[in-house]
Amino acid sequence: MTESSGLSNPERRMLRAMLGQPSLTWSLEDIMKACGWTDQAIVVGAGHGLSNKGFVSINELIRRTVKLADKGRQAVSDGLLEARLWRWVGSQEEPTMQKLQASFERHEAGPGVGLLKKLNVQLNGGVFECEDPSKVKTELQSRAMFLGSLPADEEDLSERLLNHFNGRKGLIETTEIRLRSWSLTDEGSLVLASDLEEKKQVAEITPELLQSGEWKDADIRAFDVTLESATPRTGRSHPMQELIERIRRVFLEMGFSELVEDYVQTAGWNMDALFIPQDHPAREMQDTFYLENPKSLELDSDLISKWKSIHEDGGDTGSLGWSGEFSEEVSKRALLRTHTTVNTIQHLAANPDKPCRVFSVDRVFRKEAIDRTHLPEFHQIEGIIMEPGANLQMLVTTLKTFYAKMGYPEVRVRPAYFPYTEPSLEIEVKWKGKWLELGGAGIFRPEVTEPLGITSPVCAWGMGLERLAMLVLGLDDIRQLYISDLEWLRNQPLL
Ligand code: PHE
Repeated sequence: MTESSGLSNPERRMLRAMLGQPSLTWSLEDIMKACGWTDQAIVVGAGHGLSNKGFVSINELIRRTVKLADKGRQAVSDGLLEARLWRWVGSQEEPTMQKLQASFERHEAGPGVGLLKKLNVQLNGGVFECEDPSKVKTELQSRAMFLGSLPADEEDLSERLLNHFNGRKGLIETTEIRLRSWSLTDEGSLVLASDLEEKKQVAEITPELLQSGEWKDADIRAFDVTLESATPRTGRSHPMQELIERIRRVFLEMGFSELVEDYVQTAGWNMDALFIPQDHPAREMQDTFYLENPKSLELDSDLISKWKSIHEDGGDTGSLGWSGEFSEEVSKRALLRTHTTVNTIQHLAANPDKPCRVFSVDRVFRKEAIDRTHLPEFHQIEGIIMEPGANLQMLVTTLKTFYAKMGYPEVRVRPAYFPYTEPSLEIEVKWKGKWLELGGAGIFRPEVTEPLGITSPVCAWGMGLERLAMLVLGLDDIRQLYISDLEWLRNQPLL
């Protein structure tokens, strides 16, 4: 009696029903009917509970059902391939291979002749022959009957024909279903039905119950922690966000401070300040997103005249400039920044004589057609070091240290060209035995630094974040990063 006192109500009801016919093996339907339940899950749950307490044993039977597959259904309506061929053989005065090939499609004639040969229908000088046609007929009949009897329990079928059809493609298929049944154990049959009255139990604690104090006397249902339940999914950062955080940590560790700035900028800061000529192809409409509203933004006239003279003839820098005429209108055009170098240069202009180490990980925009490796909106990892004595060696070492901390110890640089740096270089990282280009870097030219009054040399770099993300996450399509594929997101490793 004491053993049964801890039972839940569904367990009580199920056990009581089973005690009504103690020797029966109960199917799901039997129990649902006897208990008045419509939900299978209750039976399964109560059954588990009773089995854990030793009152009930659960039997599991696997039933294998053989059904017709696509080709099998076709065979039932049109006849098996070998049967159709055999009928054709019987209809011909001289059934030759040649005629057969004219009457049947190639994909049927080939395999069909093979099937006939196995039935002892031989080719003799190109003509089909058979010693015992009645045997062929019987076999074809039993094959047809076999298919006609489907679906059927696997164990009720002829093993020989089952093997035969399992060896042929697409005719039959087998499905498995698990059938559970429940029966009383000896211990279970000793429980007295009178001890199994259903109790009034509280499954949910409501504010009313708490306020009235009724909870003190309530019989509160225990959780059955042995039951299966759905695994809760917790939230997590997007791998891209995690990567950005990791990059931030690495630069902060290396003594850099972060710069976060607007992405609406003028062509003046985005390009002219960086000595990118006004007729540079990257400034065209098809490469850069210019804004309609505002179409242009104000710029300090002093600055414009400095850029004008640098661009037209090099100003006082000793450079020859680009020659041609510098347009103030072009300079004022508003755009979405095409690189984050626009922000580091402004930081330098605002602090021309304060040595600094600054980085940013931020969004940039270029009119790119979307494909496996391009997006119109992506991120750059930008940075500068401005201090007396800053030099190329320092730049390369900084980048190597950064990538080593990110887990890529093999880094190399190659000469490159940017209008705003000299020398300029490209950064490459070795991944799976291949060198991958991840960004550009260099020392800002005097045409860039002098008009802004910057006195010390500036090491600068700008690298692709998505490229790095593809490496880190092992992707070969950049779009995967932005399509919100939850299954993929859940399965990404923590970075
Ligand atoms: N701004 C360059 C780009 O967008 C990268 C770069 C930054 C190159 C700084 C040199 C110095 O590709």
